[in-house]
Amino acid sequence: TPLISCLLPSFRHRLHPPIWKLLQTAAQQAHQRGWHLYLVGGAVRDLLLAPGEETLTLQDIDLVVDGFHRAADVGAGVELANQLQEIYPQVRLSVHGEFQTAALIWHKDAQLGSLMIDIATARTEFYPYPAANPQVEASSIRQDLYRRDFTINALAVRLTSPREGELLDFFGGVEDLRSQQIRVLHANSFIEDPTRIYRAVRFAVRLGFKIDPHTEDYIRYAICSGVYDRLRLENHPAPALTTRLRAELTYILEAAYWKPALQLLSNLGALRCLHSNLVLDANLWWQIRFVSRWLKCLDSENHFSHWLIRLEVLIAALKPDEREQIAANLQLPKDSIERLRDLEKIENSVQQNLKKCDKISEIFLLLRQYKVPSLIIVAARSDRLERHRIWQYLTKWSKIQTFLDGNDLKAMGYKPGPQFKQILDQLLIATLDGEIMNREESVEFVTNITEKTAQKL
Ligand code: CTP
Repeated sequence: TPLISCLLPSFRHRLHPPIWKLLQTAAQQAHQRGWHLYLVGGAVRDLLLAPGEETLTLQDIDLVVDGFHRAADVGAGVELANQLQEIYPQVRLSVHGEFQTAALIWHKDAQLGSLMIDIATARTEFYPYPAANPQVEASSIRQDLYRRDFTINALAVRLTSPREGELLDFFGGVEDLRSQQIRVLHANSFIEDPTRIYRAVRFAVRLGFKIDPHTEDYIRYAICSGVYDRLRLENHPAPALTTRLRAELTYILEAAYWKPALQLLSNLGALRCLHSNLVLDANLWWQIRFVSRWLKCLDSENHFSHWLIRLEVLIAALKPDEREQIAANLQLPKDSIERLRDLEKIENSVQQNLKKCDKISEIFLLLRQYKVPSLIIVAARSDRLERHRIWQYLTKWSKIQTFLDGNDLKAMGYKPGPQFKQILDQLLIATLDGEIMNREESVEFVTNITEKTAQKL
């Protein structure tokens, strides 16, 4: 039996008034049709977790419609969403027919801000085989909650009367919120949906909770039993699952808590989903933190996608001929796939040639062929000398400019053309190597070299 308590009065004061009004409108519409409406998932969890009286900014609200008996009501969630769109004409509505869910999206609305409301029809999901997409059939709220990932996410608050404001807790979610545990509802949860392993880690680290020991056993069991083999990216990826897995991976790698999360993923063996050979050993752990530090330092001029480059460092730890395929299967952006494809070539060129350079200009000419993210990844994988030189290049030498530009050359009487680039390049080399210290010396330098090559008109 669910633990029932009346939460609506306290919730009401914690929600932004226009959102509260919207929820009430939705509840009235459902009620008129003889349905129940529930607030479920993360919003309930976060409302119960956040202490005190403060108003919660909810941007993502999940609702479930339930309590119908006719087959025609299978699309209740969609119908309710349509009705709400009539009342809120500025909202964008998108329907995912197969799963009978509808999303209402407000973008920077004057009243509601940016808000997304998912409305689902209570359903049972059954899985015809592990790691497949859920199929859908109409069912009750309990079954809808039972198909969810963790007890703390399987709480619901009824919004419709009678008994509005009741908290439905069929699986001990409130107790787990109290004892700070991430617990699945049944042993097969991770077999049915391997992305939940990533979610368990994400919630555990984000909320500062522990993964309950049985749940951890289920995770290890699922991984050992090859749950990732179906989507193992070096083989044939299953597109829908890969997309969701990538979303979870992104979420973790871009979060402020990515370090403990990645450690936990690795301890659980969950990095095997990227590749069976991927192990976060001390060296790789060092590399990924190193790259993150450099990204932070160099960020102001570059605006890198930090999570993506962290992921590239993980993929770079694999064999060169496997990297590009994995990046492509993960549907990484084009430039990222290219970086991983070219990494071996760039790394060989930098590592072989950088130590031979005697002058700053030689280092400059070698490294300027490559983009900054590639150089950062190569630096992480190189020896001290190379690392130091790449750092000097990125922070100092790549910023050095000549004292003269094309306009100055024109003013000196040179005719614009291909020789301009040559002159400016020679100027830059001499400037980099400290042979020229100011404008006058630059003018003198240009006069000398052009006299020699008789380029002056
Ligand atoms: N869910 C699930 N299994 C998944 C993904 C989602 O059971 N693989 C369920 C959970 O009950 C979750 C709800 O769908 O609460 C909504 O998913 P999502 O928006 O991803 O999670 P939130 O709990 O809202 O988390 P967040 O606060 O990070 O948005």
